[in-house]
Amino acid sequence: MERLFSPLALGPVELPNRIVSTAHQTTLVHEHVPTDDFVAYHEARARGGAGLIVLEATAVHPSGLLTSHTLGGYLPEIVDGYRRVAAAVQPHGTRLYVQLLHGGREQIAGPPRPPAIAPSAVPSPRFRAEPRALTGDEIEELVAGYARCAELAAEAGLDGIELSAAHRYLIEQFLDPELNLREDEWADGGRFLVGVVRAVRAAAPGLGLGVRLSADSPRAGRIAELLVAEGVDYLSLALGDSATYLGSVGIVPPPPVEEAAIASRTEPFALGPPRIATSRMIDVEVADRLIASGGAEALGMTRALITDPELPAKARAGRVREIIGCTGCNACIAHYHAGTPLRCASNPRTGRELTLGAPEAAEKKRLVVVGGGPAGIAAAVEAGRAGHEVVLVEHSDRLGGQIALAGAAPGGAEVSRRFLANAERQLEVAGVEVRLDTEAWPEADAAVLATGARPYRGDEGLTAWDVLSGVLPDGERVLVADWGGDPSGLDAAEVLAAAGKQVTLAVASVAVGELVHQYRRNLYLQRLYRAGVRILHHHELASGPVLRNVFASELTVSIEADAVVLALGRVPVTVERPSGIPVERAGDCLSPRSLEEAVLEGTLAARRVFA
Ligand SMILES: Cc1cc2nc3c(=O)[nH]c(=O)nc-3n(C[C@H](O)[C@H](O)[C@H](O)COP(=O)(O)O)c2cc1C
Repeated sequence: MERLFSPLALGPVELPNRIVSTAHQTTLVHEHVPTDDFVAYHEARARGGAGLIVLEATAVHPSGLLTSHTLGGYLPEIVDGYRRVAAAVQPHGTRLYVQLLHGGREQIAGPPRPPAIAPSAVPSPRFRAEPRALTGDEIEELVAGYARCAELAAEAGLDGIELSAAHRYLIEQFLDPELNLREDEWADGGRFLVGVVRAVRAAAPGLGLGVRLSADSPRAGRIAELLVAEGVDYLSLALGDSATYLGSVGIVPPPPVEEAAIASRTEPFALGPPRIATSRMIDVEVADRLIASGGAEALGMTRALITDPELPAKARAGRVREIIGCTGCNACIAHYHAGTPLRCASNPRTGRELTLGAPEAAEKKRLVVVGGGPAGIAAAVEAGRAGHEVVLVEHSDRLGGQIALAGAAPGGAEVSRRFLANAERQLEVAGVEVRLDTEAWPEADAAVLATGARPYRGDEGLTAWDVLSGVLPDGERVLVADWGGDPSGLDAAEVLAAAGKQVTLAVASVAVGELVHQYRRNLYLQRLYRAGVRILHHHELASGPVLRNVFASELTVSIEADAVVLALGRVPVTVERPSGIPVERAGDCLSPRSLEEAVLEGTLAARRVFA
């Protein structure tokens, strides 16, 4: 992986290698400045060997605070915040930039929201923001805001600035003829971008300056042309459009969007400035090959580094098998949208760098872990890494529990495959003995019970889990009765449609899959519609194929169906506690939730059980 680990000059700034943590909101921000958790989070990625860290989208003006956890790049106190991050990151050789952004009409915050502003008053369909048109004076004030932010970043000793002209945020809104209906001098959409680039250069002449754009945008060619003419130091190529349901999926694309999704989009941007290409780069070897083939000069591996901050160091040391690979589950961005601190479903230490240290054992003991789903796997790995002797017993013939089941459907296949591949490697490295098809527990000094869940009302008929296990109902017409929470009903509907069934998916919630992150859900909906699945919202099962409207219960509808498949939620599976030894429980056996809680609780249970 010579190419990945060779230095790269971005104008005045030399990166020690080509692996970049691109801008991503951490929600580790308080009062619009970095918290100690923020500093520790980025320090871990620098220590792990990232060549460049671009700090998250930072507001250039109070009107551009996307959420109450957005960095305020215009605040005098940001200088001290940046300095603390720089002092933690730069000694590792990692270069540090900040991304300056104004969302324009895109507003992620809940109330009280600032008034939305945009080149023209055109409502935004995804966030349902209804902006007013900026005055000429206000536009000048925003340009000055970018410049002021650049000055403060320079004062704090950052290495460079990145401007976001991506994702149809403010800069790109000026360049979009559907959103810029102005008749003054700002009708020239490039004027704002060029004005900002020049103002930032003038305000921070010694710093590197790169610009991010969405490579799949119809405006990308024009933006790149203007940037090359302005002599910017790099182009950061991302995907996606914040304004639409489908466009937003591209911002943080989950599988089944293909691995290295950006790779097919970089060629038109080989215009001189180095390209940092980002989106679904997971594997260091794939990344190295993309550089070798001339597809990019550096690579954003953002979720890959959210999952494993030590990815560069491990790759460099030939310890690729020890890398915890990103599954693409998008728990990270789900936290951003929920306004909660950044987390990773596969690595509970992400965002907890200050509180959840490496596994440590005082005295080697014997642990039995009962249940080989994500919680049990996490517990076994944690205890094994701490040096304990661990036996993991699983009553079925495979590991993974529900994540393995989800692997049968397109929406879960890659997340499942990657999670299980991580698990296999981590269990091996941790020296855990895995016993499949086993009911009996060996003698141990302590136990972690992680016995998972089963379908609610699973004894009343065929369930989504049965379908995912390969059991298909007789008959052509199938009704899937979905409570509207976890993705199992959606997965079953897709599997049934792919098997040639005529599927009606009745969903008893306001939106489809309310516990599924919106980017994954948007793709579920796309596939379900394309597969001809009939979606009936707001209906729950009354009896047989009769459905009742959840808002007007007197309204019923009878579905012509040969079979009904149940996806009505889950209930815990419990087993009797062994006596005489310390016991901890973890994951769905405490109450069924998501992968993230299972992995976290398994990890914590393994630490607690010997405490
Ligand atoms: C939690 C989270 C927050 C993000 N916030 C930003 C942001 O502030 N600015 C930006 O340009 N991109 C943002 N992104 C997009 C990432 O920079 C990156 O382009 C995206 O995650 C795809 O790359 P990956 O597949 O390597 O993760 C964010 C991504 C995540 C996961």
